[in-house]
Amino acid sequence: MTAFTYRGGTLCADNVALSAIAEQVGTPCYVYSAKRLRENYQNFCAPLASLSPLICYAVKACPNIAVIRTLAECGAGADVTSAGELERALAAGIKPEKIIFSGVGKTRDEIAAALKANIHQINVESISELRVISEVAHSLNITAPIALRVNPDVVANTHHKIATGEMGTKFGIDSTQLPEAMSLTRSLPALDLKGFHVHIGSHLFDYENFRDAYTKLADMVRYWREQGFDLTRLDLGGGVGITYDGQTQAPFADYASVVLGTVGNLGCAIAFEPGRFLVGDAGVLIARVVHDKQGEQKRFLIIDAGMNDLVRPAMYDARHSIMPVKENTTEAKAADVVGPVCETSDMFGEDYLLSGVGSGDLVAIMQAGAYAAAMASTYNGRALVPEVLVDGGSFRIIRRRISVKEQMEWETL
Ligand code: LLP
Repeated sequence: MTAFTYRGGTLCADNVALSAIAEQVGTPCYVYSAKRLRENYQNFCAPLASLSPLICYAVKACPNIAVIRTLAECGAGADVTSAGELERALAAGIKPEKIIFSGVGKTRDEIAAALKANIHQINVESISELRVISEVAHSLNITAPIALRVNPDVVANTHHKIATGEMGTKFGIDSTQLPEAMSLTRSLPALDLKGFHVHIGSHLFDYENFRDAYTKLADMVRYWREQGFDLTRLDLGGGVGITYDGQTQAPFADYASVVLGTVGNLGCAIAFEPGRFLVGDAGVLIARVVHDKQGEQKRFLIIDAGMNDLVRPAMYDARHSIMPVKENTTEAKAADVVGPVCETSDMFGEDYLLSGVGSGDLVAIMQAGAYAAAMASTYNGRALVPEVLVDGGSFRIIRRRISVKEQMEWETL
């Protein structure tokens, strides 16, 4: 069940009318459903329950501390990718022992921050990083719990900008370098190798891609155990896709079967790092039509949200569904939905059919919980827009509008 449905002719987030939120908060704004966040977490957990996994929410998908807190209350840990995200996860109440630190470019300061916070695990992306973690940990007199992120060299059927599991991408340790990395985990000081990590890409529909990666991972575990390594943990990353505009996704239970069938019997503690799956369909971006422009060849609905508020269409050719906030059943005339930013790529998509939508009307851009607010910018002199959390029958602002006046306070003449 989606969190966003029409009630009495108005699109609502759970029981709250999006029009009421728009009136009070202004547009554009992001609206998240706490109920849907909780449901998504439960839906992720249920078919994997036999593994008792550690589910580390990939904070990068939507780093608002109230969103992280909502998932933390469900039992989630966090997958963080910078000291900034670590700070957010801790501030939101995630326990350090449930935090995993991934990312290819961790600095010494970030590694030190993670070690001092006593987090669950640092995922190591290169031999260079392995040496630095050892040095930093040694100097702090702390033993670093690490997992090696391996690049399994598998195809991930997704947009090429978010595929990470093939040789030649910057992610993970290539299989040819794994023997050196494994031996360094023994010879360098202050390292405690717990296991392996893979993350082959984001927004994957084809669970066979995961099967390929996890099968290779299982083989690696068996091989390196034979070489005398005590491998007790596997971090299987994130990457499960969601339905956007008209796409269909195989049931999540099929992904769980792939996991159980490949790495389920190794006796390893299993962690996951879902981002989009937990927050993607729990959020929308509400915008108002500024102009209904009939050009010579095309009709454009120019809305007050732009690529700076949701960059996914411009960056990954993504197409989010768009719904009128006021329900209307009259026949719709197609329009391209575009933003106000001075770039041709500031376009949500072509030929949307939105009944009864013209100048002044509200629309909701769906599936905007993941990688929307998270990737927002102030391009073209624009504010960072509010985030709202609906919980039960009420809503609250979880990030206020950051006006241009405030942004200028960061600057000096
Ligand atoms: N773990 C690691 C190490 C990651 O790099 C990512 C995402 C995740 C977990 C979470 O992946 P998810 O479950 O959300 O697919 N901005 C792009 C997506 C970039 C994903 C980056 N890494 C988009 O809007 O599609």
